[in-house]
Amino acid sequence: MENHYPFTLPPLPYGYDALLPELDERTLHFHHDKHFQTYVDNLNQILERYPDYQDWPLEKLIQNWTSLPEDIRQGVRNNAGGVYNHGLYFQTMAPTPASAPSGKLEQAIAQDFGGLSELKRAMRTAALGQFGSGWAWLVSDSDGRLSVHKTANQDVPFPLIPLLPVDVWEHAYYLGYQNRRGDYFESWWRLIDWPQISETYGKLMENRPPYAK
Ligand SMILES: [Fe+2]
Repeated sequence: MENHYPFTLPPLPYGYDALLPELDERTLHFHHDKHFQTYVDNLNQILERYPDYQDWPLEKLIQNWTSLPEDIRQGVRNNAGGVYNHGLYFQTMAPTPASAPSGKLEQAIAQDFGGLSELKRAMRTAALGQFGSGWAWLVSDSDGRLSVHKTANQDVPFPLIPLLPVDVWEHAYYLGYQNRRGDYFESWWRLIDWPQISETYGKLMENRPPYAK
């Protein structure tokens, strides 16, 4: 995906039936092809009228939305966030049964949470505790320290570095789970692409300054 205007919808990285039984085809179809596409289209429509921001990368738009002209500020906040968050959400799930984290990520989870089951508990608490629409996140700071956060609507936990998001908007689970957000969370947990996230975190740690923790 181009990381600036005009943004395009990245293809779903697996088949629509690849995440069964955890996530069904209709859910993935509506979530990816309709909801995600709408964030992409809305963001492009907003930026179409503002050439000054058309070469801004997605992350820059998100981090600087408060300095944008007032009439597009909220629209960029919501829709650039929607594009970023959904891109990462679909990328960090995988159809094959996920293995556990490895390498530096496994060590950091042990150090910062006490282990994978404690991380899961923290993510579940954040996901179920987010009132209304939003996200729960595993993030890293620039030193590699991990923490769990929740954000409302389409907000992104920058400047912390997002590693793993779970979408807790009802559109992510309502067709399959109705109001049972906890059941959806348990299913989502089984789909996490730990090898990929472990690699991302490992690369992040390679590039940190030598004086960091
Ligand atoms: Fe979503």
